[in-house]
Amino acid sequence: HRTQVAIIGAGPAGLLLSQLLHKAGIDCFVVERKSQAYVESRIRAGVLEQGTVELLDRAGVSERLHREGLPHHGVQMALDGELFRIDLHGLTGGKSVTVYGQTEVTHDLILAHQSRGANLVFEADEVALHDLTTDRPHVTFTREGVAHRLDCDYVAGCDGYHGPSRASIPADVLRVFERVYPFGWLGILADVPPCDDELIYSNHHRGFALASMRSPTRSRYYVQVPLTERLEDWPDERLWDELALRLGPEAASRMTRGPAIEKSIAPLRSFVAEPMRHGRLFLAGDAAHIVPPTGAKGLNLAAADVGLLAEALISRFLDRSEAALDGYSARALARVWMAERFSWWFTSLTHRFPEMDDFARRMQVAELSYIRASRAAQAVVAENYVGLPTALTT
Ligand code: FAD
Ligand code: DHB
Repeated sequence: HRTQVAIIGAGPAGLLLSQLLHKAGIDCFVVERKSQAYVESRIRAGVLEQGTVELLDRAGVSERLHREGLPHHGVQMALDGELFRIDLHGLTGGKSVTVYGQTEVTHDLILAHQSRGANLVFEADEVALHDLTTDRPHVTFTREGVAHRLDCDYVAGCDGYHGPSRASIPADVLRVFERVYPFGWLGILADVPPCDDELIYSNHHRGFALASMRSPTRSRYYVQVPLTERLEDWPDERLWDELALRLGPEAASRMTRGPAIEKSIAPLRSFVAEPMRHGRLFLAGDAAHIVPPTGAKGLNLAAADVGLLAEALISRFLDRSEAALDGYSARALARVWMAERFSWWFTSLTHRFPEMDDFARRMQVAELSYIRASRAAQAVVAENYVGLPTALTT
């Protein structure tokens, strides 16, 4: 098979890129290792920035998002159980975020692909990238034991942190930056109404907790746990008890408990690979960078990369100009580093670190008290949380 752009990975990055390129009349082929059911049921992010929503609009896949997504004009923070509010809308000149699950975004994108009969294959094994530094790159894979070859002009590596794309870049041209955090997030999804209309990010001396949601009848909660923790040690009741303590009495009094539909532990990591291009391979999303989830930047950053990459490929195919492709890595990385900084800072401010002494704890308390009291400090949180304007990241 021959295509203009071979896309590795059918996560939000790969699917959104394929849909945007299709709208511009560019042919792509998406190759995914897992099954469709697996991809659609992976519970991950829940908060979309306005820029991400606008890209989904442009891709023509936002009809259900606008119907079912929950606009959030503010976000709550808590210090040892006492809540205060960041007025996102008022502090950013009218911006907001939308709560709509990554599972829903992925589902809508897959549906759009299948209804137009797009080239999207699941359960592809042994996906490998070849001849990336020539003008005839190709991708090989096997499916149900049959070998396939995909000839293309460009390869988009949208295959997440563990995929083969970044691994195809020689170690001596790739520079990686990394922080691993000494804790993870234990998440629970349950069909119960959320404890608040808004999200709550809580710094409690027992550790971080987050109250989030997927809909008016479905809640998503997280607590910080040591990496050594096992899921078996967290029966639902223990988790609800811990959430009640860390979110504080006000939120706890409105919290409805219920059986977990999903429960899992995710590690926290900051990671950036530079550059995001090697020859005819372009990386986007988690394939190039990871942020700790505090601040909900992972999916939004993947979407921002894809917005830039789609624009650059469109300019290459429609205007025959390679300037935007040449500038892609630097432009994407400018935003990546700003989101890395915010996610690292917000994680440092809200989590309990094993090595934290009383001084470090007092610094967290002082900084959160400052944010609670100062509109200027709240504006810094709000501007980053809703997503930095492009003018600040170029
Ligand atoms: P992915 O969603 O990882 O998609 C990559 C795709 O490539 C996958 O479908 C994968 O199966 C496929 N792939 C991998 N290897 C191959 C191969 N060899 N061949 C073909 N295909 C391949 N962000 C938040 O904002 N909030 C959260 O709460 C949150 N929770 C998270 C929890 C977990 C466990 C993880 C891993 C991430 C979480 N994130 C969260 C981050 C967010 O989900 C990601 O940033 C987002 O999914 C990035 O999209 P992506 O398309 O770049 O990568
Ligand atoms: C969710 C995850 C996040 O990392 C976050 O900052 C906010 C919400 C969520 O899964 O709902």
